[in-house]
Amino acid sequence: MKTLRFISILAAVALLAAIQPARADEGMWLPALISQRIGDMQAKGFKLTAEDIYSVNQASLKDAVVLFGRGCTGELVSGDGLIFTNHHCGYGYIQKHSSVEHDYLKDGFWALSRAEELPNPGLTVSFLEYMQDVTAQVLEGYSEGMSEEQRAQIVRQNSKKLIDAAVAPGKGLTASVEALFYGNQYFLFVFRVYSDVRLVGAPPSSIGKFGGETDNWMWPRHTGDFSIFRIYADANNAPAAYSPDNKPYQPKKFFKVSRAGVKEGDFTFVYGCPGSTREYIYSEDVRYTAEVSDPHKIALRTTRLEKMKKYMSQSQAVRIQYSAKYASVANAWKKWQGEAKGINKMKTVATKKAYEARFRQWASGTRYEGLLDRIEALIAQRNPYYFAYEYYNETVRTIELVQMASAFKAAFPSLDVIKSRAEDFFKDYYRPIDEEIFTAMMTAFGANIDQSLQPQFYKDQIAKYGSVEAWKDAVFAGSVFTSKEKILALKAEDLETLKTDPAWEISEAFRNWYNETVFPVLSSTNRAISLAYRDYMQGQMDFEKDKDFYPDANLTLRVAYGYVAGYSPADGIDYRPVSTLKGIIEKDNPDIFDYNIPQVLRDIYAQGGHEAQPVCFLATNHTTGGNSGSPVLNADGNLIGINFDRVWEGTMSDIAFDPEFCRNISLDVRYLLFIVDKVGHASYLFDEMVFAD
Ligand code: ARG
Ligand code: ASP
Repeated sequence: MKTLRFISILAAVALLAAIQPARADEGMWLPALISQRIGDMQAKGFKLTAEDIYSVNQASLKDAVVLFGRGCTGELVSGDGLIFTNHHCGYGYIQKHSSVEHDYLKDGFWALSRAEELPNPGLTVSFLEYMQDVTAQVLEGYSEGMSEEQRAQIVRQNSKKLIDAAVAPGKGLTASVEALFYGNQYFLFVFRVYSDVRLVGAPPSSIGKFGGETDNWMWPRHTGDFSIFRIYADANNAPAAYSPDNKPYQPKKFFKVSRAGVKEGDFTFVYGCPGSTREYIYSEDVRYTAEVSDPHKIALRTTRLEKMKKYMSQSQAVRIQYSAKYASVANAWKKWQGEAKGINKMKTVATKKAYEARFRQWASGTRYEGLLDRIEALIAQRNPYYFAYEYYNETVRTIELVQMASAFKAAFPSLDVIKSRAEDFFKDYYRPIDEEIFTAMMTAFGANIDQSLQPQFYKDQIAKYGSVEAWKDAVFAGSVFTSKEKILALKAEDLETLKTDPAWEISEAFRNWYNETVFPVLSSTNRAISLAYRDYMQGQMDFEKDKDFYPDANLTLRVAYGYVAGYSPADGIDYRPVSTLKGIIEKDNPDIFDYNIPQVLRDIYAQGGHEAQPVCFLATNHTTGGNSGSPVLNADGNLIGINFDRVWEGTMSDIAFDPEFCRNISLDVRYLLFIVDKVGHASYLFDEMVFAD
């Protein structure tokens, strides 16, 4: 009996191993510590070494990856500083260069020579020079028994010393000390920041944003989400402000481009800057996200999107005014839906609770005893205030009239700045949308924020006008902020009257309420929770001694690895991991804005032979916001794609990674080459690139 059971267990294990040839890999690993994982990576097909990924002694792949702007990643692809990133990462810069005469967003942009490349004031790219574990130095002088205030002060002072030493003047370096694992570990990151970064090429939005909000976070996907830039440096290859005399930057390392393509099961890795994850939080924090925060925010945004859409579909002008606003509201809205659904489907709360029960048992008699109860109590204390904060952000602060009042407050008393803000604001303002949003958001605020927490001002307005609708009418009728002409006609002596404007009053009253009622509790409980999480993190590491932990994402450089794989989003559906040009033509529809491709693409397709042209592919790499634009590399470390999204059934990966559903979406680099050549007629760019195959 016993033997039989043993044999059947063995058989089950063998069967499991057989049907899971390469387990999808959760984790965003620090490049400097990649030797921890290199054995596993190599076992799964990776052909290079830890030193190839990250080295301080010789050029390594890290020298070909940049933080692009402040929230994306980019990669070097030539010895002359050429970089690839996403279209949605370059969007704001492409937009700034666009006008009615040169609509680069609509038509695309291709510099036909280096002289035509366009500078982008404010855009920087940052290279990681090195990263270093400085935990001991940061905590020097700290001893058990000191207060948290003392510890924080020691951390601050020591960090400053380390940073000052690392960025000795004149070297073009910046540095930061980042807390990892909630402050159980500290790393020094030293960057070289280049600020002359020029636009080289971008496809028309109908390619670079193909599928728009309809396809965002979805598979099958056909977005040509790339743009191309070039880094310039001074005569010594060092960072320099824009100058026509600057030279293309000569990188220590750049990626070779692979045209060999991908197939299911191929090893891939992503090298980039993921922004934020919360993998180690307590179950109640997860429950709050999936059952309270996400659903409320989704409902509020559904309302706002409906209001925008109604007017956008009635007028081309309004559609243009609101398309960027709509996209940014819709992006998180759609992500949260996937996240809440994924957490429920994975039963993350129950799984965490079971884990916590085991942890509690293990912790009894250790310094972790009682820790989880403390976390639970702190979360309970914080959450009403956290909810109020989130609700305030998603309601009052989304009313554009209130936003304008806040912008004026910040500009006060400079009449010039106020007027220039008004110019910007009115270019994209449509009052009927804002009026409807005011009514809907203020109504939701009253219905969902506990009476005891509501600002007196809010209650007074409702009492005074009898309804939100009547209050809204009074605000929009009484505010000068609804009229561009009135604001532009303002004189210095009128400035004080702005302070009694009804929109200004709303902005002011809610801000005061937030500062006086919400913030004090929120910030003190948050601080206490993050300290408790520091212990809990260490506790989890002590509890699971054999597990390799990766720190939560914090926009520092990471490596994620996995393999090319489709998935099954629902019963009866199997997604294959590769999409092609054929699918673009299938979606093409001149009447649907998101699917209206440029005529040139139709013509190219009609010539025949391009049906199988690859466009995007799926893989199991653990990525998040900030990984957009990241290089996707094959087993040889050559560029096969550019990461730009995840599938929405897997967006809970910011909290819990499910190997069955979590997939990152990449542009196949061969589609980039195809568009550059056939649509941009810019194949001269290939001359400076190196093709691996
Ligand atoms: N979902 C992707 C990411 O979070 C792409 C967003 C840009 N594209 C869009 N259609 N809104 O950021
Ligand atoms: N689209 C995201 C970005 O912009 C990537 C993601 O969330 O997967 O960084």
